[in-house]
Amino acid sequence: MKQFTITVYPEKKKVAASEGDVLLHALKEAGIRLPSPCGGQGTCGKCRVIVKGGRCHASASSHLRKEEIAQGYCLACLTLVEGDMEIEIPPESRAAAGAKILLEEKSVVQDKLVLGKWEIETRTHRVHVQLHPPRLDDPRSDIERLRADLLTKGFSGDRLHCSLSVLRKLSKVLRDGDWQLTVTLMDLMDGVEILDVQPGDQTQYHLGLAIDVGTTSVVIYLIDLLTGLVIESAADYNAQIECGEDVITRIIYARTSTGLKKLQQLVIGTINKLIKGILHRAGMSAEHIDCAVAAGNTTMIHLLLGIDPRYIRQEPYIPTISSVPPVKVAELGFEVNNHAYLYCLPAVASYVGGDITAGILTTGMHKENFLTLFIDIGTNGEIVLGNSDWLVSASCSAGPAFEGAGVLHGMRAAPGAIESVVIDQNTLEPHFSVICNLPPVGICGSGIIDAMAEMFLTGLLDRKGKIRGDIKIPRIRESEFGREYILAWAKDTDTKKDIVITEIDINNILRAKGAVYAGCSTLLKEMGLSIKDIEKFLIAGGFGHYLNIRNAVVIGLLPDIPYDRFRYLGNSSITGGHLALLSQKLWREAEHIARSTTYFELSTSTAFMNEYVAALFLPHTNTSLFPNVEATLRETMVTD
Ligand code: FES
Repeated sequence: MKQFTITVYPEKKKVAASEGDVLLHALKEAGIRLPSPCGGQGTCGKCRVIVKGGRCHASASSHLRKEEIAQGYCLACLTLVEGDMEIEIPPESRAAAGAKILLEEKSVVQDKLVLGKWEIETRTHRVHVQLHPPRLDDPRSDIERLRADLLTKGFSGDRLHCSLSVLRKLSKVLRDGDWQLTVTLMDLMDGVEILDVQPGDQTQYHLGLAIDVGTTSVVIYLIDLLTGLVIESAADYNAQIECGEDVITRIIYARTSTGLKKLQQLVIGTINKLIKGILHRAGMSAEHIDCAVAAGNTTMIHLLLGIDPRYIRQEPYIPTISSVPPVKVAELGFEVNNHAYLYCLPAVASYVGGDITAGILTTGMHKENFLTLFIDIGTNGEIVLGNSDWLVSASCSAGPAFEGAGVLHGMRAAPGAIESVVIDQNTLEPHFSVICNLPPVGICGSGIIDAMAEMFLTGLLDRKGKIRGDIKIPRIRESEFGREYILAWAKDTDTKKDIVITEIDINNILRAKGAVYAGCSTLLKEMGLSIKDIEKFLIAGGFGHYLNIRNAVVIGLLPDIPYDRFRYLGNSSITGGHLALLSQKLWREAEHIARSTTYFELSTSTAFMNEYVAALFLPHTNTSLFPNVEATLRETMVTD
């Protein structure tokens, strides 16, 4: 097979490729990441490159404008290498690929601990033991001697479990340490297990990990199990993204011959990279980590464990496992103590995973009398409704539009993304802010919602999400993608192309917001309740961080209830993992939550479909559900 060289600008990096290679794959192999939300299916239009010269075969794509094709733009996943090539990665592809996950500054748990509201009750313990050496008149075996001492310290010596590997090292550890040793123990249902023995006193470092295994990102906290405090934290994109950005694409990818293994290796690679970084920064060693708790959606946990997730996608949507028994991390390849166990928070169902169980635990809604609606918005919108008496849950496919996919100039919240938009009522000119105050390269989810709400309130959009053709301003034009509103002129952008909102973009957001709203209203109706009964509306997930609540209500994504009922929770998945790591009582609460939460399948529900169709308008076909939005529209004199 012929070998070729691809020169990648602006870095002039040389990339080796074989004849017929898919350009996207060749670049990935060389460590050049392009955004690829559809996993290389050619459907998202985000893996853009500019071919400057050389030989290739690029398939046509409806995501590229005629003038872009004339400039050499093509989609890397639809381009086959046929000779040496010179390509450029345009700013929009670079910005999206270089996006960093923003970490929250502090753990909610940390605040509570400082306030003394929770007791630490970890499942692992490090105990310093000083034994009397054996004598002729005290010939007990080493393990009997240790068992007796642990019994005096309150550990159930009669039901003491001990692995062969610990027994094999025990005699040497005792004698090397002059009969002083540190025993790492783990509580079991019927006693305790000795996980490890080390000579001397090693009790000052007793660490654990809380891991949020998200479809998009992985977040890790390194936690001092003695104080409960976060010592270090880190986050990065889940490396599985190169195989697709949502759970469905990953499940499909897992069905390829090496797909499942690769997906598992990618996420474990991400976790190990983060662990290495936090340990280095904290000046700690992997030997100090005795326990880990992971929270993730059901598919992510299957992929982490290397379990085939295919039936999660097929009706009746059954996972292999919802409540995972503890797994030795060494079996998975985590670079921490071999004796450490990983606990995965239990899932409610295939599409309401352990991350949502963690979220419910964080909210405390399962112990309150208030009617609370908790929502985690990502590519799926997971919704939980209830109080201390009952909990119901559902999941609706919002699609990737809120994360920038399915939107022509959409991108994740990264430097260069337009994050908020205001449109002047009189001039219809937009004003926007860009993350890191850079020239814009695209628009992220919160910016799109703002733009849509402002366009609606200023009369640029009608209730069906159509851009009004009777308004004649330079910023509205017809294009091959339909009518569009120009948010930023080419001269002001980093891409040197206009950044626009098209009617197709608006339609995709309408469908995403319609699904989320319909999920909430269907759950409420199933319980004989209505929107006005919600006393607390809690929003979790990275997307919620940037969300302008008023604008989310204007477009009908969130219900029209008093603003003081909304609260943003941050990453409730990692907070729940932190809680469950520190407290066995809270872990048992999480198990109870997962067992007792009723799941409603919306994908086959006629009621949901009816609600969804009704929600595909701005803000909704039933305007009486949005009295405050209607009042604002009347004030601004906007009519249909
Ligand atoms: Fe190429 Fe989606 S279009 S990765």
